[in-house]
Formats: sequence, structure tokens, C-alpha cells
Amino acid sequence: MKSAVVLALAASSSSALAGAVKPPQQLNKRALAHSDPFYPSPWMDPNADGWQAAYAKAKEFVSQMTLMEKVNLTTGVGWMGEQCVGQVGAIPRLGLRSLCMQDSPVGVRLTDYNSVFPSGQTAAATWDTGIIYQRGLAMGQEHKGKGVNVMLGPVAGPLGRSPEGGRNWEGFSPDPVLTGIAIAETIKGIQDAGVVACAKHYIGNEQEHFRQVGEAKGYGFTIAESVSSNIDDKTMHELYLWPFADAVRAGVGSVMCSYQQTNNSYSCQNSKLLNDLLKNELGFQGFVMSDWQAQHTGVASALAGLDMTMPGDTEFNSAKSFWGTNLTLAVVNGTVPEWRIDDMAMRIMASLFKVGQTVEQPPINFDSWTLDTYGNIHMAAGQGYQQINWHVDVRANHGSLIRDIAAKGTVLLKNNGALPLNKPKFLVVVGEDAGPNLQGPNACSDRSCDNGTLGMAWGSGSANFPYLVTPDSALQAQAIQDGSRYESILTNYAASQTKALVSQANVTAVVFVNADSGEGYINVDGNEGDRKNLTLWKNGDDLIKNVSSWCTNTIVVIHSTGPVLVTDWYNSPNVTAILWAGVPGQESGNSITDILYGKVNPSGKTPFTWGATRESYGTDILYTPNNGAGAPQDDFSEGVFIDYRYFDKKNTPLIYEFGYGLSYTTFEYSNIKVQKSNAGTYKPTTGTTAAAPSFGNFSTNLADYLFPKDQFSWVWQYIYPYVNTTDAKAASQDPHYGQTADQFLPPHATDGSAQPLLGSAGKSSPGGNRQLYDVMYTITADIKNTGSVTGNEVPQLYLSLGGPDDPKVVLRDFDCIRIDPGQTSTFRAQLTRRDLSNWDPVAQDWVISSYPKTVYVGRSSRKLELNATLT
Ligand code: NOJ
Repeated sequence: MKSAVVLALAASSSSALAGAVKPPQQLNKRALAHSDPFYPSPWMDPNADGWQAAYAKAKEFVSQMTLMEKVNLTTGVGWMGEQCVGQVGAIPRLGLRSLCMQDSPVGVRLTDYNSVFPSGQTAAATWDTGIIYQRGLAMGQEHKGKGVNVMLGPVAGPLGRSPEGGRNWEGFSPDPVLTGIAIAETIKGIQDAGVVACAKHYIGNEQEHFRQVGEAKGYGFTIAESVSSNIDDKTMHELYLWPFADAVRAGVGSVMCSYQQTNNSYSCQNSKLLNDLLKNELGFQGFVMSDWQAQHTGVASALAGLDMTMPGDTEFNSAKSFWGTNLTLAVVNGTVPEWRIDDMAMRIMASLFKVGQTVEQPPINFDSWTLDTYGNIHMAAGQGYQQINWHVDVRANHGSLIRDIAAKGTVLLKNNGALPLNKPKFLVVVGEDAGPNLQGPNACSDRSCDNGTLGMAWGSGSANFPYLVTPDSALQAQAIQDGSRYESILTNYAASQTKALVSQANVTAVVFVNADSGEGYINVDGNEGDRKNLTLWKNGDDLIKNVSSWCTNTIVVIHSTGPVLVTDWYNSPNVTAILWAGVPGQESGNSITDILYGKVNPSGKTPFTWGATRESYGTDILYTPNNGAGAPQDDFSEGVFIDYRYFDKKNTPLIYEFGYGLSYTTFEYSNIKVQKSNAGTYKPTTGTTAAAPSFGNFSTNLADYLFPKDQFSWVWQYIYPYVNTTDAKAASQDPHYGQTADQFLPPHATDGSAQPLLGSAGKSSPGGNRQLYDVMYTITADIKNTGSVTGNEVPQLYLSLGGPDDPKVVLRDFDCIRIDPGQTSTFRAQLTRRDLSNWDPVAQDWVISSYPKTVYVGRSSRKLELNATLT
């Protein structure tokens, strides 16, 4: 039998504790980016907006907990130790079952009778906050119905720095305001359903390559540490942190720290990121959980602000943990102060209570590791045979919502009058992307292939399809109903048959093509998560060029995880319409049929730019290590200039700009008005916090922490909080055990005294200083539907901040408004103080510059028909 006591692996190294990694000698060729230390880790604020009641309940619960129970709550039981992708230890004495963390941001992962929703990126393309909220609510309800406590989503990291980024589809948009609004609405929806949302991956997780050392080895690179995203303070605040601020303000219960390093310090032990930016400046009151195996140290991560380790073991099934036993020892010997573990427990419990969960929890009724009804509940150990799947159907009527989101998230990029279709005489559908995966929609685990239509991309952000309506089946049904003739060729490689078919008289050809991507642990067709190029997969470009050379009415539908290069064919007169249908989920065929036939008038706007060349984006993935065997260095030297901001800066011609999308009707913009509100002057927050509270006390006698052999039998590889000997050094198995704390702890790391409040931080206001969200201007404009059908329009408010280092314009607000033909509606948008400010790295606060500011209202980032100067 293996020992239940775990190794004290790398409990500390002073550089890691300081939140910065000193470059090893051989890497000293260049000065590596550095992350400043920030200690102590901020503790919860009992008066924080929206958290008071949850705090009070948590305090009552945590006050009854023993140290071992607190450790249990913070430490995962190990990979595949229980039913969910992550679970922590139970607190049976107080009636709390093991908490369940489950993917994904598109539906409940690894189970059955769940729905598959459109991707975050597709939802963002609706620009419809109401429907984005509904999507979050429905996904939350499904997780709730399965017994999930924490849903591992939504995503704002990656933001989408490079269009090739493998997981961009899981998030929303490279624009921080669109992502910020979308993540906040999604979080509200999920948490209104009684499930804790998890904003991930915090932060700078902009590529899959080199996010993990082991993974990199798998594709042939030996590196000592994960890639470092090197991000300056201004870019951090104005771009990458922005949507996380919105997530915190929306009350998100948990945040997942990411795999990679930021400024050469691992995100899950980076005190600048966790203690300072997230908990201090943004006033985050929930808990930070690690991504799976993203924890690299024990004490260091605890003091830097990590609150829960997932899945609990150092590496999958290592039977060792940085926490568990080691956290017990660290608290007993004072290396981790009592208030810090109390704060971890408080944050976790308060998040549950905040969303309405109680100590008594509904059971977890599914198992991630098998769909069999019976099996081992401790899958890794092969122990505990019992019923593990109840096959609970949680889908309700979400199918119609899914159909609607994917239709409204479809962007009409080109239309020469070919659409909407009206009982076409002969409809021909061409392309593998219109058809099924012949082995079934769930044949490839975690959707690790691109066979048939792209309803979902790959990785942990996936879920099993309950069914997948293909474009072929839905369009055929529509054609039959209309009395159209219908044929389809569901391969990209039948040139002669395709030519013979689409060259016939009266053909309306719809060509379906795609481009896929996903998470870095899976390689599909040479793409290590990140795409290796921006071209269509499976010869899609040739397919389009061929069909459009044979057929004068060729409509193109693209399913993809981001922009693709359409340069070679989009302008062909025979390509009569182009649609981007994103990653649509289970109702794919119905959604695209609704759009093609005008049952839903398109109103989607592209949430990213379509450049003419790959190079024109100015950013790309770092595909090859650039620092010898050390951590690859990914310098975000473009600053805030990603996507449209870069194209605008360089004045580069492009194909379809950010925010662009057509409708079957037309809209006219007029009459911009600006109203200034009296928001008063900004006052940086002053004062101090209370001292760190601690709840209860604990024994320092290790005999009290021995594994209770007489009470239950030990599960193989399971992570426990116990020790197996009262000799601390032996229990830790750490040769350095016994060093006094001041030999390796950074200054202030254990200081529980009252701390000064940051100027930019709020007083009890998650999201930052309350005044940052004061409305300073209200802008209105008239939008008239000048066409003949009802449609939704998405008017967009952009701002020029006016400085030499500012983007030409930045998105600041938008709405999705339904307008009947001939009618005029008022678009109303707001500018807050944060919207008008820049981050000042010297003042360490948001400051409104003296540069002249102009607002624009328009239908895309480059069609800004109305403007006004702000006074
Ligand atoms: C790793 C992924 O990065 C994360 O998004 C996911 O939630 C966890 N694995 C758990 O599956």
C-alpha cells in the first residue's frame, strides 16, 4: 500500500514566492520580464456589495470546521478520484458532500442527456445581451440538474490576441468590452441558476503552445518551464484584465488561474496577478482555483492567493499533492497563517451560498469517466463499485434557445441578392461540413477530429451531443417541404461529380466549409490546439473556387473557430453570398436554414476582424521556443493593439471589419445626441481594511492529524489532509522541512494586520473603485428601418480617447434593437468613467487624459456614420 502522506514537493522557492522567476544562468542573455511581489493575500470583506449574506453564512459554517476539514475543502481528491472532472474532499461531519467542478462553457461535459450550446464566440456575434444571459442561465440549469456545484466557464482568457489561438472560440471576442459585457451576462445567467460560475483562464492564456512542459514534450520541444506571456501594466489593465473586472463586478464566484506564466511567474502562484490585481484592486471575493495541474508549489501558491487546487494531485494520478497533507503541516507549523486557510474556506463557502446553494446538496448524478450505469465511483483507484450514472435528462426545451442563438449569431458577410432563399428550384448542398460524422457526432473523444459538420470544436470546452442536426438534413427537409429539387454531395473530394451536379440549370449551390481548433492536449491534423494557418480545412478554398467556377449562384457557409482567409474568392461575382455560422452547437442545420430562408433576419456582427492576410493581424502564436531550454518568452509588444485596433493603427485594408454584418433589411442612422451627467470628480479610495479574521482554532499536535484507520479505509491515489506520522519532517518527506519561515517567505506574506486600500480599488465594491462605473455621458441616436422586413440592428458606440498612444477608436457600448419597417428606434448608450480613462502606470490608477475625445455611433468599427465631440 502506498503511503497516504504526500511528498512536500517544492513547497517554496523564494523567487516563486516573490511572484517572479529569476532567470537561470544560461538564460541570462536577455532581461526577462518580471512580476512584482504583492503580499499579504487580501482576505474577504464582510461588507462587499452582494456578498454580505453569503459571508455571514460562510462565517457560521467555517467557524465550525476543523483544520483538516478546511484543508479538505481546498484540495482536490486527485484526478479521476470521484465523478466530476474535479472534486474536493467532503466534510461529512457537517453534512457537506464533496463539491463538484465540471466543464464546460458549452454544456455539461462528459455526460449524457445534456444540450450542446453555441460557442461563446458565436453567442458574442449576436451582440444581444438578453440572449447571452439566457444561454448562461440554460447552461447553468443543466449543470445544476446534474449536481454540479461549479461550472468551469465562461472564458475571457484567451481574449483572442491571435486569430490562430486554439481556444478563442470558447471565449467571446478579442475586444475587451464585448467580452466584458458577454462574460458578465453569462455569469449572471449561470449563477441565477444556482451554480457557481468560474471565469477562466486568468490571465494571458493566449496560446496553447507551451502552456505545459509535458505537453510540449509531446510535440517535440524540451522546455524547463511553461511559456511566459509578457504583458505590461497598461496593456494588462486596458485589455486583458478589463473583462475580468466585469466578471468580478457581476459577482463571479470563482476564477481559474491559467497554465502559463505571466511575466515569468506561474499564474497560480503569481502574487501580482492573484493578490494584487484580482483580490486587491478588483476586490474579488470568491475563490481562485488552479487549472488542472497548473499549481507548481505548495506554500508559495497559498500565500500568493490560490484558494483551491485542482484536481489536487501534483500530476495526474501521482498520489502526491502540493496541498492536502502539506497544507495541514504548513498551517500547523505557521508557514501558512491560520487566517489564510480560513480565508480560502470562507471564499469557497461564500461562493456557494451566494448563488443559493446550501450545505445540503443534491447528489451528483453522473460520472465523467464512463456512461455505464454501474462502475467504480473512485475510477482512478478502481474502487467503490456502485451505480454512478442516473442518466438524468437536463435539456428541458433548450433546443429552441440553441437554435435561436446560433441563428442570431450567424453573420451575413456578403449578399448579392441571393438570400433569402425562396423555394429555390434546385438546391444543391456541397461539402463535408454539411454532413454527419459517419462514425457518429460523439465518435471522437472531446471532439478530437473534424469529420462532418463542425458543431463544436475540441478539448475540455466540449460536451457530448444529444443529437446534431446537420445542415444537409435540415436543408433537405426544407427543400422537400417547398417542392424544391434537392441533392447533396457530402465530401470535398468528388470534383467531377460536383462539377456535373452544380453545372446543371437552375442550381442554387450552398457550399459548407470549416476550420477547427481546440485545446493543446489534442493534435488534429497537425494543429496543436492552435491553428497552424488561417486557411480552410480539407481543401475548402479549392472547393469554393471550383464550385463557383461552375455555378453562378454559389453561397458559402463557414463554420469556424475564428477568422479564415477568404481573400482568394470572396469577391468573385459567382460567390453570391457568404455567411459565418460560427460553432453553432446541436441545432446547427436548423439555425442555418432559418437564416438562409429568412425565417430569422440575420443580425449577427462579426466579433473579430477578417484580414486579407495572416500577417496583417500583427500578432501570431509563438510556435517555436525562443529561449533555449528555458521558458519561451511571448512578448505582447503590440500592447493594446490587437484585432481591429491593429488594423486601424496600420490603416491596413481588410476584408470584413470588426462589428460588420448585413441584414435582409436596411437601416439609417441619424441624430446623435450627447448628454453629460454630473458624476463629480474621481476620488481614489483611501483607508484600510480590517485585520485578517480567523475562525476557530486548531491543534498543533500532529497526533490529531493522523489518518483515522479505524474509521474508513484508504482509497488508492486519493489525496487526503492527514499525516501518517507525528514526525513532521518525515510526514512532509521534504528535506528542507524545518527551515524557519523568515528564511524563505517574502516580506509581509504572513502579515494579517489591517492593510491600506488601493486608490483604484473599491471600498467593498467588487470590480474596482465604484466611481469608475459612474455614467459620465449618455449618447442617443435614431436608427430607422428603411427596408421592407423587420430586423434587429446592432448600433455600436465607439470612442476615440484622443492620445497619441490610443487606438483610433475603441468599442464602448452597443445594443441589439428590433425595428419594424419604416419605424425609428432610439439607440441609447452610456460612457462610464472607466470607458473614458486610460490606465496610468505611474499613478497606478485610471485617469481621464486631457486629449480631445470623440464618440462615434455606427454599424461597425469602420462604418461610423455619426460622431460628436465630448466636452
Ligand atoms: C484544463 C482546461 O484548461 C480547463 O479549461 C478545464 O476546465 C480543465 N482542464 C478541466 O477539464
